[in-house]
Amino acid sequence: AIRKPMVAGNWKMNGSLELIKEMSGAINNVKSKEIDIVLFPPFPLVSSMVLTGVCTGAQTVSENEPGAFTGEVDAKLIKDLGAKYVLVGHSERRSIYNESNTKVAEKFARAQNVGLIPILCVGESETEQENGKTELVVSTQIDAIINKLGVAALKDSVIAYEPVWAIGTGKTASPEQAQNVHKFIRDKIASLDGNLAQGLTILYGGSVNEKNSELLFAQTDIDGGLIGGASLKADSFIAICKSAE
Ligand code: G3H
Repeated sequence: AIRKPMVAGNWKMNGSLELIKEMSGAINNVKSKEIDIVLFPPFPLVSSMVLTGVCTGAQTVSENEPGAFTGEVDAKLIKDLGAKYVLVGHSERRSIYNESNTKVAEKFARAQNVGLIPILCVGESETEQENGKTELVVSTQIDAIINKLGVAALKDSVIAYEPVWAIGTGKTASPEQAQNVHKFIRDKIASLDGNLAQGLTILYGGSVNEKNSELLFAQTDIDGGLIGGASLKADSFIAICKSAE
């Protein structure tokens, strides 16, 4: 493959020190050079995860420089703790915490400024999908980054396509459906920079499990997955990782 597969586990507001021990043990057993495995625990667990040697990311980040922002977490601190990635624009952040495309682009920029790799989450809601708006929504979400930072900013980033209707619902996009959107994303970026688009990792997320991951990951433009629920169970998560090899 041109791109190294990646499997990322987003724990959302779940997890514990016990789960870190269990999951890192399992991951360190199967670690291979063929695939990048990254876990995104809640903030208080980031340091502990880093110490296990498992590649670690944070689930969100402040767009601001350090200062009077009670409860927010600074990108530089996340980087200094040893994390490598940060999710920006996850659909739960967009919908529950009203993060706009503009704010997501600011977070993306701040993350890159300190040397973190942002994973930009994009995806349409159920209504948008029913109204044929998928490409428009995804395109607008990506343009927010390109318009602010230029297409070159996507070089040190990852994109995760997560149709909102598939998140935590058990309703996965079919491999063809997902492949079509992934190809749309890659072609869109290729129209601005072909090499960058060919090297760009694009993950699929939304009810991925050990039964459907292999077919999804076999699609030409799907380079791995962003896993929610199934990243909380070691057996499932490891099986998903193996299916990406
Ligand atoms: O970040 C992960 C996604 O929101 C997918 O979650 O696998 O539980 O559907 P899920």
